[in-house]
Amino acid sequence: MPQPTGPAGFFRLDHDLVCDGVPLAAIAARAGTPVYVYSAALLRERYRAIDDAFTDYPHALHYALKANSTLAIARLLRDLGSAVDANSVWEIEVARRAGFEPSQIVFTGVGKTPAELECAVALGVKAINVESAGELERLEALAQKLGQTVRFAIRINPDIDAKSHPHISTGLRVNKFGVPLDDAHALFATLKERPLLSLVAIHVHVGSQVTSLDPLRRAAAMAADVSAELLRRGFPLRYVDLGGGLGVSYDGGAVPSASEYVGALVGEVRRTSLPIVLEPGRAIAAPAGVLLARVIDVKPRDASSDFAIIDAGMTELLRPALYDAYHRIEPVAGDAAGDRQYEIVGPVCESSDVVGRDRTLPALAPGDVVAIRDAGAYGSAMASNYNRRPLPAEVLVDGGEWRVIRRRQTVDDQLSLES
Ligand SMILES: Cc1ncc(COP(=O)(O)O)c(C=O)c1O
Repeated sequence: MPQPTGPAGFFRLDHDLVCDGVPLAAIAARAGTPVYVYSAALLRERYRAIDDAFTDYPHALHYALKANSTLAIARLLRDLGSAVDANSVWEIEVARRAGFEPSQIVFTGVGKTPAELECAVALGVKAINVESAGELERLEALAQKLGQTVRFAIRINPDIDAKSHPHISTGLRVNKFGVPLDDAHALFATLKERPLLSLVAIHVHVGSQVTSLDPLRRAAAMAADVSAELLRRGFPLRYVDLGGGLGVSYDGGAVPSASEYVGALVGEVRRTSLPIVLEPGRAIAAPAGVLLARVIDVKPRDASSDFAIIDAGMTELLRPALYDAYHRIEPVAGDAAGDRQYEIVGPVCESSDVVGRDRTLPALAPGDVVAIRDAGAYGSAMASNYNRRPLPAEVLVDGGEWRVIRRRQTVDDQLSLES
């Protein structure tokens, strides 16, 4: 088997952008565009960086499937020893098909339907992360109906500002997620009378793309305080679930390292002696993927810039349109640096379909392939069929070879659901 050349992930080799040593231009030529390309080596490296940072502190990583649940990616993480966080019954199903045991699945979600709850309870997942008093009542009714005890965690809304984008901040009282601390205490007081409900953990998650340790540390401290008190009162908690949220550097700016992150969390939780569960998604998958797109057209925009219209847009990478998110964009062949100004836009019929604003790049021409970096998380997972655009193919590079892990969708695939 050919061996990868150089470090894991995406770097330039003789001017050309490669993934684990494989030229991205060659993948685009064979697989077509738009296409997501993932580095297996970097996925492994990112997972292990968090896992290893715990050293001997007991823990479990439950990879957040919402970031990217393509089967081959889920299987790769399972093979590394990961467990999962599922956010719907469909993610639970994907997890099962990827080979995860029910005991490796935590089930989160602010709006779990009765059918979803029943499925998770019947399956016997590790824990259901409960988001409201009403949900706990529905869970209790299910436990009574099925005649079994249910393991659950309470997601506490810590009223902490994650200082991330408002659309992905979840830890403020005004956000829809979790139970405020006072209400959680009121719920704990009822549990002695509810024998079928087994509280196994406190759960917090303050947001995604969190780039400062402070909110993550404060949430961990709060979860540790509440857990310590519950342990004192005799609740046999099994772990503390600190959610996900660690940010990645989309623009080259500083972000906490895996060891700084884990060190901060362990520093808060150690006094409880409870194992830590983490639900990282983005921090593992985002840097391990790119979205390759081909330039369709170049046309004048204003006195100093052109539009470069590419064959990927908000349908393949929603983040820029949804959060005004920044992703580095660079040509896969030749030099990355240049002096031409571009507004890089997608083909979708929306003015918000801008992938990159005010980018300085080498001159682009129709047919050129560009890589949109850090698209491994919340890229393919958030893609849509708007404008009847097919879901792109996905490619995994592993050990110096690449393979299609999801074929490109066709219009027939789409219409097969319709009559
Ligand atoms: C409860 C929960 N856990 C984990 C995650 C994963 O977050 P991230 O991808 O930022 O690590 C999310 C995403 O927002 C979430 O809502």
